Amino acid sequence: MDHAADTFRTDLMTITRHVLNEQSRHPESRGDLTILLSHIVLGCKFVASAVNKAGLAKLTGLAGETNVQGEEQKKLDVLSNEVFVNALVSSGRTCVLVSEEDEKATFVDPKLRGKYCVCFDPLDGSSNIDCGVSIGTIFGIYMIKNQDTVTLEEVLQPGKDMIAAGYCMYGSSCTLVLSTGNGVNGFTLDPSLGEFIMTHPDIKIPPKGKIYSVNEGNAKNWDTPTAKYVEKCKYPTDGSSPKSLRYIGSMVADVHRTLLYGGIFLYPADKKSPSGKLRVMYEVFPMSFLMEEAGGQSFTGKGRVA
Ligand code: AHG
Ligand code: MN
Ligand code: MN
Ligand code: MN
Repeated sequence: MDHAADTFRTDLMTITRHVLNEQSRHPESRGDLTILLSHIVLGCKFVASAVNKAGLAKLTGLAGETNVQGEEQKKLDVLSNEVFVNALVSSGRTCVLVSEEDEKATFVDPKLRGKYCVCFDPLDGSSNIDCGVSIGTIFGIYMIKNQDTVTLEEVLQPGKDMIAAGYCMYGSSCTLVLSTGNGVNGFTLDPSLGEFIMTHPDIKIPPKGKIYSVNEGNAKNWDTPTAKYVEKCKYPTDGSSPKSLRYIGSMVADVHRTLLYGGIFLYPADKKSPSGKLRVMYEVFPMSFLMEEAGGQSFTGKGRVA
């Protein structure tokens, strides 16, 4: 006899169900993180839908302003930022927001404050928007000791103190990868249900990978150890096969592939960007948290990213 379960998944682990399960492991929890995450999920769904129709809805191209990083903002950078700021503030669970697109941190109105600080890159991979290549959103969440007296210094916590991090990739499918400090899980948006369903439980990065991922156009500005390392990927001296190069130029997509297929993603500091291009609070820390939770490593070149 034909079984519906052979064709359809009928017992769906939605992201809400998963987060509630995680919450029940902490009997003292009052569900604040669950509520915050559900607002982030809503933001991701909104942006996913906008990204899908970007070309049709006149959402491609520049917004006309420059952000604090000195980059020209795209319309989708600005829209996504607005979506997430609204989603995070209205959750009633945040006190400070730090976004790539806002020059200053946003201190939430005391009436709406909660105990979390969220650092986020609302739209990662802006240069790929107009050609329809995978882009994403990155977020990292910290807990603040006293929401009423929170200062900017308190926001500058080490990445290892994050309590949750994740990203959503708007790619050939929309995938949300999340860790609340107990491993990493991946969820795919089912557009017909409007729900993220767990498709990648307990993600572990393969111990060995055959791919390196870097913008080699920057090679002339690299230091010698970086140049030597990449040279070895192409011309190994230990008899192994050369690695394949894959580079999308959206950190979310490059990290996602690295997480699933293994290998290395790097954006080294160089003569042009002596502190590196990637932004610590909303790109490097959340991705490092996820990588380590998935059994991988994240390095500055000198030591652990933390
Ligand atoms: P964003 O679009 O949020 O500004 O981030 C772009 C970042 C990151 O996504 C990516 O890894 C890197 O910039 C790509 O830089 P290059 O174009 O210099 O390779
Ligand atoms: Mn940018
Ligand atoms: Mn980015
Ligand atoms: Mn961005």
